[in-house]
Amino acid sequence: MNTELTGERLQKVLARAGIGSRRVCDEMIEDGRVTVNGLVARLGQRVDIDHDLVAVDEIPVGVLPGLVYYLVNKPSGVVVTAVDPEGRPTILELVPNEPRVFSVGRLDFATEGLIVLTNDGELAQLLTHPSHGVEKEYLAQVTGEVTPAAIRALREGVEIEPGVVTQPAKVAHPGGDLLKIVIHEGRYRQVRRMCEEVGLTVTRLVRTRIGPVSDTQLAPGSYRDLTHLEVRALAGAAIVKTGRTHDR
Ligand code: URA
Repeated sequence: MNTELTGERLQKVLARAGIGSRRVCDEMIEDGRVTVNGLVARLGQRVDIDHDLVAVDEIPVGVLPGLVYYLVNKPSGVVVTAVDPEGRPTILELVPNEPRVFSVGRLDFATEGLIVLTNDGELAQLLTHPSHGVEKEYLAQVTGEVTPAAIRALREGVEIEPGVVTQPAKVAHPGGDLLKIVIHEGRYRQVRRMCEEVGLTVTRLVRTRIGPVSDTQLAPGSYRDLTHLEVRALAGAAIVKTGRTHDR
C-alpha cells in the first residue's frame, strides 16, 4: 500500500500527539527537526502511524491514539497492585477505570510520592529496564545517626542481601533527619534496606522525582496526565540509559 496516498498527514499526527499546533508542527518539519523512519520529513508527507517511526529532535513521538500516561501522587496506605487479596485501597482506584493501565514499577504500601501509570507497555518496559532504570529521587526521614560514614557507604553501595550490592547512589543530607537519595535501580524496598544496612531506620519515604519528572503541586491521592514533553523526556532518559529505541 502506498502510504503517500493512504496515510495521515504528518503535521496532523504531530499535532494530535501534542507537539504543538499544526502551524508549529509545519515549522518543525520545515526546520528539518522531524524524521520519518530516520529520514528528514517533508512538508505534506503522509505517514502510517502503525508502521512508521516518527521522531522530533531524534526522540520518538507517541503517535498512537489511546495511550494514556498518568502521574499519581501515591499516599501511604495504598498498594501498587491491580487487585489486593486483603482488600486494601489500590493505586488503580486513584485513576480512571478506562482505559486499563498498569504501574511503571512499584512503591511500598507505606511509601508516598510519584508513580507513573500507563497503558504503554513499551514505555513501561523501557523505564523499568532492570540494569539501567531512570533515576528515582527519594526523600527519606530516618531515625539513627546520619554520620559521614553512613552517607559514604550509601553513596558507594551497600550489601542489602547476600551477594547483592547496590549501585552507587547520589546521597545528600539536607539537614536533621532527612536524606535525599537518588538511585536508578528498583530493587524491593531498596531505600529502606540501604538505610537499614548503615544503621538508619526509614520512618517516612517519599518519591519526589522519576527521571526528568517531578511535581510539588500534585496533592496526595490525585493524578494528572503527563504532558507530551514529559513522556518524551522520560522515554529519552530511558533511551540514553539503555541505548534502545522507543518506536512510538
Ligand atoms: N525504596 C523503598 O524502600 N521503597 C519504595 O517504595 C521505593 C524505594
